[in-house]
Amino acid sequence: MKASGEDGEAPAGGPWEECFEAAVQLAFRAGQIIRKALSEEKRVSTKTSAADLVTETDHVVEALILQELQTRFPSHRFIAEEAAAAGAKCVLTPSPTWIVDPIDGTCNFVHRFPTVAVSIGFAVNQELEFGVIYHCTEERLYTGRRGQGAFCNGQRLRVSGETDLSKALLLTEIGPKRDPATLKLFLSNMERLLHAGAHGVRVIGSSTLALCHLAAGTADAYYQFGLHCWDLAAATVIIREAGGVVMDTSGGPLDLMSCRVVAAGTREMAVLIAQALQTINYGRDDER
Ligand code: IPD
Repeated sequence: MKASGEDGEAPAGGPWEECFEAAVQLAFRAGQIIRKALSEEKRVSTKTSAADLVTETDHVVEALILQELQTRFPSHRFIAEEAAAAGAKCVLTPSPTWIVDPIDGTCNFVHRFPTVAVSIGFAVNQELEFGVIYHCTEERLYTGRRGQGAFCNGQRLRVSGETDLSKALLLTEIGPKRDPATLKLFLSNMERLLHAGAHGVRVIGSSTLALCHLAAGTADAYYQFGLHCWDLAAATVIIREAGGVVMDTSGGPLDLMSCRVVAAGTREMAVLIAQALQTINYGRDDER
C-alpha cells in the first residue's frame, strides 16, 4: 500500500521524507499487531478514570514504535501516550519531536469494536510537519504533510465546505472524566448544538478517526474537551492539508497541549461551534 497515490499525488520528497516513510512503515506494522490482538483475550487496566483504559497491546505497540524511531533518529524527542501515563513529561521543544498514540480507541479495542487507529505526528520548531493515522481494521492509511496535501490510501482528502450549523453532521468524544459536573456540561454542549439544528452528533470512540472523517468531508465539524496532544497532532496536519481549520474552543489559535479543540471544514462553522460550547477543564498535557 502506498502513502499517497495517483489521484493528485504530491511529489515525494521534502526534508522529512525519511521520517515520514518510517512513520508509514511503523503504522502498518503496528496495525498488524493490533488487528491480530483485537479478537484475543486482553489484560485491561485503568489510568485516570474507570473509562480510561490501557492494555498490554498499547504498551507493545508503543515500545515497537519508540524503539525503532529512537534507533533511527537518536537526536529526536518523543511524546507518547503510555510513556506520559507512566510520568514522562510532555514538552514540545523546537527539536524534531514525534507524538505517538499507539492505539487510539483503546476502549473500542477492548470491546472488539473495530474502530481503532495508530497515530503518529511529527513536529519541528513546534510546527506540525506531518501526520500518519492508520485505521487498523479497515486498513485505511490517512496522511498529511505540510504543504503537500492530505490523502487516504492514495485518494486526496477534502473537507466539506459547510458553513451552516443547521445542515451539519458533527462528531465529538466523551473524554475520560465521568463525574456528574463534567457529564452535565458534556450533555449540555451536545444539547446546545442539537438545539441549533445540527443534523446529528456522532461518538465513534476514536478521536483520531473522528478527525479523519472531518478531513474526508464525511462530517462537517469535531469538538472535544479531554483529548490529548497524541490524539490531535497527526490529525491536525491531515485536516489542515485537506483544507480545514483546527482551533481552540475559545475561538483562538490551536494549543496542542490544552486538551481541547474545535475543528471544521470552514472557519465559519468552527466559530459557530466554539461560541456554543461551555468549557470543561481538563488541565494541560504539559503541566502534568
Ligand atoms: C481516547 C479516545 C477517546 C477520547 C479520548 C481519547 P485512547 O484515546 O480517542 O475516544 O474520548 O479523549 O484520549 O485512550 O483510546 O488512546
